[in-house]
Amino acid sequence: MGSVAADHFERLYREHADPWNVAGAWYERRKRGLLLAALGRERYGHAFEPGCGAGDLTLRLAQRCDRVCAVDVASAAIGRCRARLADAGIRHVDVLTLNLPGQWPPTPPGGFDLIVVSELAYYLDAAALARFLDAVDASLAQGGELAACHWRADFSDRAQATDVLHDAMAALAGLVPTARHEEAEFRLDLWRRQS
Ligand SMILES: C[S@@+](CC[C@H](N)C(=O)[O-])C[C@H]1O[C@@H](n2cnc3c(N)ncnc32)[C@H](O)[C@@H]1O
Repeated sequence: MGSVAADHFERLYREHADPWNVAGAWYERRKRGLLLAALGRERYGHAFEPGCGAGDLTLRLAQRCDRVCAVDVASAAIGRCRARLADAGIRHVDVLTLNLPGQWPPTPPGGFDLIVVSELAYYLDAAALARFLDAVDASLAQGGELAACHWRADFSDRAQATDVLHDAMAALAGLVPTARHEEAEFRLDLWRRQS
């Protein structure tokens, strides 16, 4: 099986207001709270959020970051994310429609000091994951933090197991684990790149 195709996500967002009930489900709200609480610093300079969807996590990251780059493959999700940020009066988030990892956002000088991969990487096949992690590796600043959070259960469009993704991230050079939280339903890991 290859990576899940872009038009799958486009269709999901066109057919459903919130395809995974990211805004309302207790699983999502609780996990988002745990992820945000696990981030090591109060403030970040420039964060990258791949697979931002309709922006539920983006809105929260924007409160802790001077700048955020939020990217999703589905233009329908990006439209919603932009509208919600505008409604909230938030102007320091760059929101881009890109199909990762073949497309990648501009990396700031010195790299992003936070990259948050939430419920995204299991859609990438092995080749795309390797390319994605190469790009993450090249985009993460010295001293920057990488956070990953993924559901563990099987589902029809999963391309890779959660443990495979997180173990591949853990193997990136120079990353030191700083936090780990495991439950039957999901796994959350944080690493810091040694400066
Ligand atoms: C399950 S949702 C998770 C949304 C958000 N990250 C969260 O944790 O609430 C997965 C998101 O990843 C996006 N996505 C999937 N594959 C992608 C790719 N190759 N490039 C960019 N975004 C992608 C989907 O469009 C969708 O918005």
